[in-house]
Amino acid sequence: MADTSQREVVLSLKGISKQFGAVSALTDIDLEVRAGEVVALVGDNGAGKSTLVKVLAGVHAPTAGTMTFCGKEVTLTGPSDALALGIATVFQDLALCENLDVVANIFLGKELQPFQLDEVSMEIRAWTLLNELSARIPSVREPVASLSGGQRQTVAIARSLLLDPKLIMLDEPTAALGVAQTAEVLDLIERVRARGLGVIVISHNMEDVRAVADRIVVLRLGRNNGVFTPDASNAELVGAITGAADNSVSRRSTRRARQSEGAPL
Ligand SMILES: Nc1ncnc2c1ncn2[C@@H]1O[C@H](COP(=O)(O)OP(=O)(O)OP(=O)(O)O)[C@@H](O)[C@H]1O
Ligand SMILES: [Mg+2]
Repeated sequence: MADTSQREVVLSLKGISKQFGAVSALTDIDLEVRAGEVVALVGDNGAGKSTLVKVLAGVHAPTAGTMTFCGKEVTLTGPSDALALGIATVFQDLALCENLDVVANIFLGKELQPFQLDEVSMEIRAWTLLNELSARIPSVREPVASLSGGQRQTVAIARSLLLDPKLIMLDEPTAALGVAQTAEVLDLIERVRARGLGVIVISHNMEDVRAVADRIVVLRLGRNNGVFTPDASNAELVGAITGAADNSVSRRSTRRARQSEGAPL
């Protein structure tokens, strides 16, 4: 992993909170993401990961706290503010149009100003973008319906890069993928990082997180609960995620380890 501590801070959150009525989804969250850095956001169901992504994407307004983007304090009043600043989000459902081809999906909603491109230019731009990402898409004129899960993820990521963002957020990009496709998407994340973008990845898969993250940020019950490097042990990570050193996941792995050593249970 590269030492990213000297790079420019793209995003900095201080004391971000989000209430939904009586529910505190986020409380006093601090987060920093640097250029060319992959930050994995992990936590159990309901920990507040998606809510945090939605705050950053301009979908939800935080109830408290400040957000600084590229050195300037910002307030997002909607998703278009986030896009205009250079914050791109690939939501879990990808929102691709099955019946349209790859080019049309990459340019969806952006066919007009400021691009106003013809079909040929759009196809060239789509190819260039996919080539830069070394993406394996058989043809950009293929309807998305005929692509694999990994290829769809690639198209969604390429689409989010069209506006040249500085930060990209990926919500569970490998959740529905097989082994080979997962490896391809992880490669893709590394290439996005190599372009100098800050990357936030949400994942429940610790193996994927370790493989690609420079830092692992744990949320628990809507609060920060530790920052780790990828060489942190499973027990440390699981402890921070579940809030207990002695938990069913670590008990299970100890039991299995003892079993494999032939020790009595
Ligand atoms: N629109 C909403 N209205 C009310 N409560 C909400 C809303 N969105 C999220 N919450 C609550 O906020 C908390 C955090 O939810 P969030 O979806 O951010 O968790 P998560 O970490 O993404 O979980 P998962 O891993 O299951 O996706 C939960 O208690 C959830 O019920
Ligand atoms: Mg979620």
